Amino acid sequence: MDGYSIKMTIFVFSIIKDTRMKKKIVVLSGAGMSAESGISTFRDTNGLWYNYKVEEVATPEGFAKNPELVLEFYNHRRKELLTVQPNLGHYGLAALEKDFEVEIITQNVDNLHERAGSSSVLHLHGELMKSCSVHNRNRVYDISPDHPEIHLGDKDSHGDQLRPFIVWFGEAVPMIEPAMRIVKSADILVVIGTSLNVYPAAGLLDYVRKRTPVYLIDPNEVKTHHIDIHIIKSGASEGVKQLTALLQKYIDLPDNDKVKAIQTIHP
Ligand code: OAD
Repeated sequence: MDGYSIKMTIFVFSIIKDTRMKKKIVVLSGAGMSAESGISTFRDTNGLWYNYKVEEVATPEGFAKNPELVLEFYNHRRKELLTVQPNLGHYGLAALEKDFEVEIITQNVDNLHERAGSSSVLHLHGELMKSCSVHNRNRVYDISPDHPEIHLGDKDSHGDQLRPFIVWFGEAVPMIEPAMRIVKSADILVVIGTSLNVYPAAGLLDYVRKRTPVYLIDPNEVKTHHIDIHIIKSGASEGVKQLTALLQKYIDLPDNDKVKAIQTIHP
């Protein structure tokens, strides 16, 4: 092969690589995703809602009544987050980006998907490592791991008290519409570690297009009216490993027609 042919072959292969169409996996994750990292779920035995009253620590009314208690609850959870690491489930989802377009919609307020390397993560219920103004939830600020607490009297530059950037019960879920659009665009939907108890997040499953394969990873039974679901009854780490093996059949190989078309241009 002469120099020109070698260059042309490299060029053709780079086009083939770029035109490979990756299928889109959309993941809906919940507290069980982070359980193996050491973060408590909410509704399992000894979950957070067994030890705290939702209305006291996760509602605007609770915050109005006892802001110190609420700030302390989230300060504690934020400091706990700084001591834990992503688990193999988080890393496994990040690794899927090699062969798929992966968009994650998470109900979790931790940042373990991002820390594992996932590049597209939408947080439905807010983020622990952010704060916002009590008067304007669109004014959002990063919280430094070096100063992970919010206290009464901590204010933004507008003079507003800061609060955790968390969607509390009874508050609007601004990210639900973008999340619906993402679910509608899924070629494959994967649900991991959520009891599907909390709406509107649980209702996202209704937006999946007909005949889209749906996988559900959870070590326990999850009640859903969707019947055509492939259940992987495992924890997140083992479940994502099994899922990765099952997904191999969806990996698109270079499209033969595209290869032929390129060969016609550069025989
Ligand atoms: P839940 O605590 O309701 O459900 C956790 C799910 O994780 C259950 O189905 C468990 O069986 C499953 N699970 C437990 N261990 C697991 C593991 N190792 N691997 C995989 N799954 C495991 O938590 P969510 O459904 O996420 O909202 O809760 C939804 C929302 O309710 C949360 O975002 C939070 C909470 O109140 C707010 O705070 C606004």
